[in-house]
Amino acid sequence: MKGLVLSGGKGTRLRPFTYTGAKQLVPVANKPVLFYALEDLVEAGITDIGIVISPETGEQVKAAVGDGSRFRARVEYIVQDAPRGIAHGIKIAHDFIGTERFILFLGDNFIRDGIVPQVAAFREGTMNAQIILYKLDDPSSMGVAILDGDGRVKRLVEKPRQFISPYGVIGIYMFDHHVFEAVNAIQPSARGELEITDTIQYLIDHNLDVRAHLLSGGWIDTGKMSDILEANRLVLDILEAKNEGQVDSTSIIEGRVVLQAGAVVHNSRIRGPAIIGERTRIENAFVGPYTSIYHDCLIRHCEIEHSVVLEHSTLMDIPTRIADSLIGRNTRVTRADGPPKTLKMVIGDYSQVGI
Ligand code: DAU
Repeated sequence: MKGLVLSGGKGTRLRPFTYTGAKQLVPVANKPVLFYALEDLVEAGITDIGIVISPETGEQVKAAVGDGSRFRARVEYIVQDAPRGIAHGIKIAHDFIGTERFILFLGDNFIRDGIVPQVAAFREGTMNAQIILYKLDDPSSMGVAILDGDGRVKRLVEKPRQFISPYGVIGIYMFDHHVFEAVNAIQPSARGELEITDTIQYLIDHNLDVRAHLLSGGWIDTGKMSDILEANRLVLDILEAKNEGQVDSTSIIEGRVVLQAGAVVHNSRIRGPAIIGERTRIENAFVGPYTSIYHDCLIRHCEIEHSVVLEHSTLMDIPTRIADSLIGRNTRVTRADGPPKTLKMVIGDYSQVGI
């Protein structure tokens, strides 16, 4: 079996982060979300992996993943000229997949407990396709499945305007070669994309054996900012403490904290679960639970909790505690000179600031 990971697309919902980076490379607990997908595939015994990339962010993805050897996988890249839909990603991967069965994994989907049982069921069974459902109060931002009385999928609708069913279809799918017949037959939707939901509907309508597995563990589509904080919480909750950095005698480390290589903690308190990235300095500061500070940051004279900070950023001399925040790459948050009670800001497009 092969793996196909989609890591192209526009990622407009994660703006402004994705102006400068591929959304699949946004870190969750200091590891790009795409890496979890690759690890999940390898854990399930799939080491022959194709990654669909876009002309805009593909080079970043290639630089991060390389030839796949660090994941004990063999990775091949397939360039998609424009985001023409998930099913279009399958279509252009036909040469790579050949006639094998494969797992399609959307590179921004995060599944806490991996995919070993689902892949085993597909490998051992005779079904033509398997999808994974996740029960939600409001799955309207996803593909949604309507089941019949026996729990079989009857109909799939992409992002329905009205509530039709609580079962969202998550971005991990399993197919045999019949899927190529489907992606070649379907037409672009109103939004101009070849939809994955139409692809699966085609298989159902042609009496192929499409099964649905209901997921009980945690799943997140990290396409939205609030989802990044949630995925971060899920991973930090199961992270084991590790210290590869330096902590001086005036600092206190409480609970499960990971200090990555070269991290320095000086005269500060870190209350886990939290992770501090490589070469990041924490000085005279408090880092509270559910915080991930990525590589090469400086946190000095400030307090931060339940937040994610991306690489090369500086937070310095902030009088109030920062919470529930996502702070992008190469940013500086510092105390302003000038009249008191004045805010001095340079904020990118589509940013949000709560004061
Ligand atoms: O997360 C699950 C949902 O993913 C499903 O429930 C939906 O049925 C499915 O359409 C998809 O919806 P999204 O709106 O979340 O898809 P998005 O455009 O964010 O694309 C998902 C991933 O695939 C993302 O990593 C980008 C990549 N992609 C997407 C498109 C449209 C590509 O590589 N090429 C593309 O043409």
